[in-house]
Amino acid sequence: MAYENIIVSTEAEKVGIITLNRPKQLNALNEELMVELGQALRAFDADEKIGCIIITGSEKAFAAGADIAAMAEYTFNEVYKNEYITRSWETIRSIRKPVIAAVSGFALGGGCELAMMCDFIIAADNAKFGQPEIKLGVIPGAGGTQRLPRAVGKAKAMDLVLTGRFIDAAEAERVGLVSRVVPLDKLKDEVLAAALTIAGYSQITVIAAKESVNQSFETSLAEGVHFERRIFHALFATEDQKEGMKAFLEKRAPEFKNR
Ligand code: HXC
Repeated sequence: MAYENIIVSTEAEKVGIITLNRPKQLNALNEELMVELGQALRAFDADEKIGCIIITGSEKAFAAGADIAAMAEYTFNEVYKNEYITRSWETIRSIRKPVIAAVSGFALGGGCELAMMCDFIIAADNAKFGQPEIKLGVIPGAGGTQRLPRAVGKAKAMDLVLTGRFIDAAEAERVGLVSRVVPLDKLKDEVLAAALTIAGYSQITVIAAKESVNQSFETSLAEGVHFERRIFHALFATEDQKEGMKAFLEKRAPEFKNR
């Protein structure tokens, strides 16, 4: 598939990498880019060999937000009726394999929201996160007001959404928005290592783990624990559970077959 706004590659035939590529606009997220991102995500999700997906940008910008030039003249009628801007953002939620955001530079507005839609964020030490929509007369529109408080708590989320200030990578790690911060020149290696580790596990188990963690945001604790138990028990029906535990007892590396 030929893309114009993203670059798609693979690592070791196991990891799918999607690089946002509108450098002149600091990877501002327009409709064309988001449609291509959705297509690439779906293709990797359907590819048996791929066990983990990475979304990344450039050194200067993961993404500086939704494309302001494209949005500026939209009317309420247009955006509401056609679900403009937001429509193409839903695909990522349906991806079953893990998606890691590798963030260097700016992750602002929709860029921060896109990173938060990923399963976790690994940031370079030059990363800057923020929800500056308030400065443009709007509010976050791709889940920022919902995912940010779940990630960092009400106080920090309100601070960021209401002031529009940016936080650096160190603060983002301190408040729990990102899982790790690494030097910029180590970002690629660190993210690839994490993705290859995940891709080395049983895909069934990985999908089950992702689904269970995500369930924690949708249910009560009792329901969530019940959901986890059902999936935990179900994994004993897989060959990969037998192989994983047998390999441990035989002191050798497991050979998962995704069965
Ligand atoms: C369109 C953008 C853009 C954006 C940057 N550019 N961000 N174009 N949409 N979100 C363009 C600039 O216009 C400029 O184009 C070029 O990229 C380089 O940007 P500069 O501003 O010159 O760079 P710099 O001075 O380094 O400042 C970087 C920056 C700043 C701090 C990231 O660009 C900035 O504040 N950008 C907007 C951030 C923002 O408000 N994001 C939220 C958008 S609303 P030219 O042609 O002049 O070279 C949103 C809603 C989400 O995301 C809703 C989701 C459904």
